[in-house]
Amino acid sequence: MPYYPDEVVNEVRDANDIVDIVSQYVHLKQQGGRYFGLCPFHNEKTPSFSVTRDKQLFYCFGCGAGGDVLKFVQRYDNMTFPEALKSLADRAGIALPEQQMTQEQRARADRRTQLLEINKEAGKYFYHLMRTRRGRQAYDYFAGRGLSKEVMQQFGLGYSDKYSDDLYRYLRQKGYRDDLLKDSGLVTIDERRGGRDKFWNRAMFPIMDANAKVIAFGGRVMGDGEPKYLNSPETDIFNKSRTLYGLHLAKRTRQKFFILCEGYMDVIALHQAGFDNAVASLGTAFTEGHAALVRRYVSKVCLSYDSDGAGRKAALRAIPILREAGISCKVINMQPHKDPDEFIKALGADAYRERIDQAENSFLYRIRMLEEEFDLGDPEGKSRFAESVAERILEFPEEIERNNYIDAIAGRYGMSVDGLRAMVRHAAAKGVQGTGRPVRAPAETRRREDIRRTRGDLRSQKLLLRWLTEEPPLYERISRYVEPEDFDEGVYAVVAGEVFRQLAAKEEVRPAEILSRFASDEEAQEASSIFFEEVKGMEDDEAEKKKALREIILRLRHDRLSKLSESLDPADAQGYQHLIDEKKKLEELEKTDFLGK
Ligand code: CTP
Ligand code: MN
Repeated sequence: MPYYPDEVVNEVRDANDIVDIVSQYVHLKQQGGRYFGLCPFHNEKTPSFSVTRDKQLFYCFGCGAGGDVLKFVQRYDNMTFPEALKSLADRAGIALPEQQMTQEQRARADRRTQLLEINKEAGKYFYHLMRTRRGRQAYDYFAGRGLSKEVMQQFGLGYSDKYSDDLYRYLRQKGYRDDLLKDSGLVTIDERRGGRDKFWNRAMFPIMDANAKVIAFGGRVMGDGEPKYLNSPETDIFNKSRTLYGLHLAKRTRQKFFILCEGYMDVIALHQAGFDNAVASLGTAFTEGHAALVRRYVSKVCLSYDSDGAGRKAALRAIPILREAGISCKVINMQPHKDPDEFIKALGADAYRERIDQAENSFLYRIRMLEEEFDLGDPEGKSRFAESVAERILEFPEEIERNNYIDAIAGRYGMSVDGLRAMVRHAAAKGVQGTGRPVRAPAETRRREDIRRTRGDLRSQKLLLRWLTEEPPLYERISRYVEPEDFDEGVYAVVAGEVFRQLAAKEEVRPAEILSRFASDEEAQEASSIFFEEVKGMEDDEAEKKKALREIILRLRHDRLSKLSESLDPADAQGYQHLIDEKKKLEELEKTDFLGK
C-alpha cells in the first residue's frame, strides 16, 4: 500500500540519478552503457553489480539484487520505503506532503525518532556535565589516560552524575514519557521509587551509528571497580552486532583497510595517534553483521585484538567470519603490550605503524596459535600438528594457494614440503572439510538443472522486453503478434503490460517507474533482472537478433495455444473455434517472415 501518490515518488526518483547515488557507496566503472562495480549486497571479488543510467535501475548478476534508486537506498541503508523516500527527497530538496500514516505506522516511526532524540539529548547532557565542575573527575580521568581535549570532543565523551536520577528528571522535563524512556534503556522505571538512571558516576562514551547518530552509551568506572564497563541494552535503535564503535569516522578514512580492535579506548587512542581507520565491536564477539558492515567500506582488515588469551580466542573466531565475508585479514602483533591503547602509549604511533606493516597473514597466525597446542619436540606431536595443518590447508579451494601455504608452512616449521603435501592429499581423500566454507549441498545444484528449461523461456521473454524498452520502433513490428498476457504470469506479465502500455501511448518506457509497482523485494528483483537480460554475441548482430526475436514470438504464441487448449471446456464451441483460429494463425506465422526487414 503506497503511502505517497505516484507523482511524488516519481518526482523524488527523477531528482536522484541512480548512478550518482550508487557511486557514493560503490566504486563504479563505466563499460559501454552500463556501470559495473562490486556488489554491496553479497561478497564477490569480480564485479557483477550493474547500474544503468538510461533505465535508472541496478541489478546484480551474482545475487539477483535489483531495483530502482529507492530500493537501493532501502537495502543499503536498511531503511523502510518511507525512510528512503524521505532521505532522497531531502537530498534533492523536495518537500514531501504531509502523510496520512496509519496510527501504528506513525507510532512506530515516531518511536524510533524519539529514541534517537532521547539518546541525543542524553549525549548532550553527559557532554556538558563533563565540562562543568561536577564532571571534573571524568575530564581528569580521560586526560589522565592521555586524551586530548579535541579527541574528547570528537568522540563526544561525557560524564554521568553521581545522582541516581538526574538524567531521568532532565529527560522528563524535556517532555518524554516514562514508557519511552524505559525503552531507551537509559533509565529503569521502578513502580515505587520512580525512574532511575542506568548510568551514574561513569565516564561516558556515546555509541554512534555510521551516520553519527547516538544510539547507545558505554560507561566506564573511573579507576577500578566492577563492572568496568556498562553498556546500553539493545533497543529498537541499538543492535550490538550491527554496530561498530568509531565507524562514523573510519568510514571516511583514505586507508584501504580498517583496524579492528576490542575496546572504546583502543579506538580513541588510535584515532588520536592518527589512525583514522580504527573501529571496535563493542564488548561482544565479532559477528557476520559486523563483517557485512565492514564490507561496505573496505575489503581488508588488520586485527588488533588484545594480546591476552581472551583476545587471541576472539581473533581466531573473527578470522573465519571475515574470510566468509570476503574480507582479507592480517593480525597485528602487539607484544609485549596488551592492547593498542597501551602499545601506543608505550611505543608511539610510528612503532604501531611498523607493526601494521609487519602484520601476519591470518592463516599463518592461526597455524602459529595451533602450534601451541602441540609439543613439536615430540615426533608424535609434530606429526599430529602436521595433520591439523593439512586439514586447515584444505580450506583453500585453489590448488595454487594450497601449494603456497604448504611451502610457507613447511619452511617455517622445518617440515618436508612433499611430506606435508602428501598429508594434505590424504586429508582430502578422507573427506575432511576445512572449517572454512561449507560444501554446497548437491540437492541445490540438481534443482537448478531441473528448472533450466523454463529458465530459458523466461530469459527470452526478458530479452524481448528489454529490446522493446530500448528500441521503441520495435513495438510497431511486434505488437500485432504478442500481448502482455502471453508473458509469464505475475511479474513478467505486469512488466509487459506496462511496457506495452507506455509504448502504445508513444511514451518513453520508464523501467524504474514500472518497478515501483512491486512491493516485495523478490518481485522487484525479478522485474529488475528483466531489463538487464542480455545474450552475448547477439546484441550487435542484427540478423541473429531478428532470428531470436522471431523464435521468441513464436514460442510465446505456442505457449498461448497450449494455455488455451488446457483451459478449454470441451462443451465450449466458441472457445474451440477460437483455438482453431489461433492454431491457423500460428501456422501462417511460422511460414512467413512476419517481422519483415
Ligand atoms: N567491555 C564491556 N564490559 C566489560 C569489559 C569490557 O563491555 N565489563 C567491552 C568494552 O567495550 C571494552 C572492551 O570490551 O572497551 C574491551 O575490554 P577491555 O580490554 O577490558 O577494556 P579496555 O578497552 O582495554 O578498557 P580500558 O583500557 O578502559 O581498561
Ligand atoms: Mn585497554
